Amino acid sequence: MVRKQWVENLCITWVIAYKLSQKAIGVISLWNLEKDHHRGEIGYGILPEHFGKGIMSEVLRRVLQFGFENIKLHSIAANTNPANEASIKVLLKNGFIQEGLFHENFYFDGSYTNTAAFSLLDRNFINRL
Ligand SMILES: CC(C)(COP(=O)(O)OP(=O)(O)OC[C@H]1O[C@@H](n2cnc3c(N)ncnc32)[C@H](O)[C@@H]1OP(=O)(O)O)[C@@H](O)C(=O)NCCC(=O)NCCS
Repeated sequence: MVRKQWVENLCITWVIAYKLSQKAIGVISLWNLEKDHHRGEIGYGILPEHFGKGIMSEVLRRVLQFGFENIKLHSIAANTNPANEASIKVLLKNGFIQEGLFHENFYFDGSYTNTAAFSLLDRNFINRL
């Protein structure tokens, strides 16, 4: 899906690594880019052994800066399972607010899960830098 969006110019994906290492420990994407609406969606993940060290909070901040300042997005969306407390904490720390909750809209591994829909406007991010 990421590769298809990359080819169609709808997605930018970065590999996450420690500064002095060549080893990938995660990825972060700005995807579902909607050029007419200056909007994109963020998606991310790192390997479990690197959880809880503040890595994604730091990486997300930098990618949001790229999204708002370099490619001039107006808003960035983030969708997550409401039970994903770590992801929600990372979003809230970066100024995202929850705008909605979709019930059982995501089918995964044999069951339907809810989705918490978050968003961040460019002006709210700039104020936090
Ligand atoms: C979500 C994820 C990216 C967070 O990355 P991370 O580098 O561990 O995040 P950070 O360390 O920057 O911040 C996580 C925060 O959540 C907290 N946290 C971690 N697990 C938690 C849990 N189970 N319940 C509540 N808080 C939790 C951490 O203490 C930290 O808070 P703090 O900054 O106040 O200390 C990572 O857990 C991950 O890759 N998960 C699997 C993939 C995924 O869920 N992707 C998001 C899909 S929407």
